[in-house]
Amino acid sequence: MKRDRMKKRPYQPPPPCRRGRPPRVTVTGTGDGPLERLDVVLLGASGFTGRYIAAELSAVAAQLGLRVGVAGRDTRRLRQLLGSSVSSQVRMLHADISSTVSLNRLCQRAAVLINATGPYHELGWPVVRACLRAGTHYVDICGERLFAERCQVELHDQAERSGVYLVSTCGFDSIPAELGSVLLQRALPGGLSGFRCYLHMQPGAAGYRGVHFGTWLSSIHGTACVLPVLRLQRRLFPAPLPAARYPLRSRGLLHRAAPLGGRWCLPFLGPDVLVHQRSAAWRLRHRGTPPAQMQQYVAVAGLWRGLVIALTAVLFGLLCFLPGGQWLLRAFPERLSAGLISRRGPSSEQVRQTRFTVVCEGEGWRQPDAAGPPDTRLTLRMQFPEAAYLTTALCVVQCAVCLLRETDRMPGRGGALPPGAAFGDTTLDQRLQARGVQISLESEQAH
Ligand SMILES: NC(=O)c1ccc[n+]([C@@H]2O[C@H](COP(=O)([O-])OP(=O)(O)OC[C@H]3O[C@@H](n4cnc5c(N)ncnc54)[C@H](OP(=O)(O)O)[C@@H]3O)[C@@H](O)[C@H]2O)c1
Repeated sequence: MKRDRMKKRPYQPPPPCRRGRPPRVTVTGTGDGPLERLDVVLLGASGFTGRYIAAELSAVAAQLGLRVGVAGRDTRRLRQLLGSSVSSQVRMLHADISSTVSLNRLCQRAAVLINATGPYHELGWPVVRACLRAGTHYVDICGERLFAERCQVELHDQAERSGVYLVSTCGFDSIPAELGSVLLQRALPGGLSGFRCYLHMQPGAAGYRGVHFGTWLSSIHGTACVLPVLRLQRRLFPAPLPAARYPLRSRGLLHRAAPLGGRWCLPFLGPDVLVHQRSAAWRLRHRGTPPAQMQQYVAVAGLWRGLVIALTAVLFGLLCFLPGGQWLLRAFPERLSAGLISRRGPSSEQVRQTRFTVVCEGEGWRQPDAAGPPDTRLTLRMQFPEAAYLTTALCVVQCAVCLLRETDRMPGRGGALPPGAAFGDTTLDQRLQARGVQISLESEQAH
C-alpha cells in the first residue's frame, strides 16, 4: 500500500484558476498515519465535480472543526489539482477502487465517506461494499437511477444490520427537490396533496459552456437500462402507491410557468420524481403519510430552444438503444446534446456567476383534520449557486455533516434510504442556509 509522505510547508494562497478548470482548493494536512480516524473523507477528489466538493469540504471543515480527508488514486496529481498548501485541515489519501485492500483501508479511517467517483454503475459497488464492511456511513452524488434503486433493494437490510446509512443521490439530484417536498410537508400539518418543482439555471455574463462529460456518461447508462429499472420497480414497490385524491393538472410538454415569471418550461427527465416516490413510499410505510404527487419542470431560454431540447431528448433516447448509438453519444457529446454537455465542462468563472433557482408550488391542507380539496397553496423558493457543481458540493457536504452529527434524528439505526427519508427530520435545510442557500415560503388560500 502506498503511503503519502508530504513535507509540511507554510500556507500559500491557491494560484488563480485556469479557464475551464474548477477552483483550486486549499489542501492542508499531512496524512499522518494509517490509524488516524477522520470525520469525513471525499473519494474522487480529483474529478471535475470532486474538486468543487473538496473546496466546500475544506471550508466546512474549517468552520466546524472537522477532521477531513480527500482521496484519489494518484496523490501526486491530487496534490497538483488541489494545491500544495499544507496545514492541519485536509488530509490527502491514496485510494484505488480496483483494490479492495486500498478501499478497506480508506473506509476504516472515515466516519462518513462522500463518493464522487462515477459512473456509479461501474465504480460505485466496491465503494459501497467497503463502507458496509468498515461500518462507515456513505453519501454520493449519483444521478443514475438504477444504481440508487439497487442500493436500496439489495443493501438495505445489510446496511441496517451494520448500523450504516447509505444515502445515494445527495447532489443537485435530488436534494433540492427532496428538500422542497420535506419543507412543504412540514408547513402543511394537514398534509401535502401534490407539488410542482420548477428548476431554473441563470448563467451570468460569462455564459455557461455545458455540463461536464462525466454526467453525460451517467445519463447514457441511465437511459439505456430501462428494462432492469422496470424489473426493479416490482421489488421497490411491491404494492403501487395510492393515486392522489386531488391530482395535479398536467402542464403538457411546453408551457409558460407563472412561478418563474412566465418562462417557458419543459418536463425535467432527471431522477428526482422517482427518488421522491421512494421517499413517499417510505413515509407511507413508516409514518402512514399519504404520498404527495410530484411534477418537475425545467426553464428553457424561449420556445424554440425548448423545442430543440425536446427533439434532442428524443434523439438521445433513440441513440441510447440503437446499435452504435452509445458510441456516437460518447464521441460527439457537444453536438448531440445541443450544447448542454461539454468535455471540458464550464469554466470556474462561468460556474461562479451562475445562479440556480428552485420553486416548489404545493397544494395541501393547513389543519390536520381538514376534508375536501386542498385549501392552501404554498410557494417555496430556494436560491442556490450554480446547480451541477456548486449546489452539488453544498448539498453532499451538508448531508455528510448530518450523518456525522444528526444520526439521532435519522430513522432507525441504518439502512439504504432515499434522501427525503434519511434527512427529513434533520436540520439539513438550516445547515444549507448557513452556507448561503436562501429559502422562503409564501402561502395563500387555494381556490
Ligand atoms: N447528480 C448530480 O447532482 C451530479 C452532479 C455532478 C456530477 N455527478 C456525477 O458524479 C460523477 C463524477 O462526475 P465528474 O464529472 O466529476 O467525472 P470525472 O471528472 O470523470 O471524475 C471521476 C472521478 O472518479 C475517479 N476514479 C475513476 N476511476 C477510479 C478508480 N479506479 N479509483 C479511484 N478513483 C477513480 C477519477 O479519478 P482520476 O482523476 O484519478 O481519474 C475522478 O476523480 C458522475 O457519475 C456524474 O454523473 C452527479
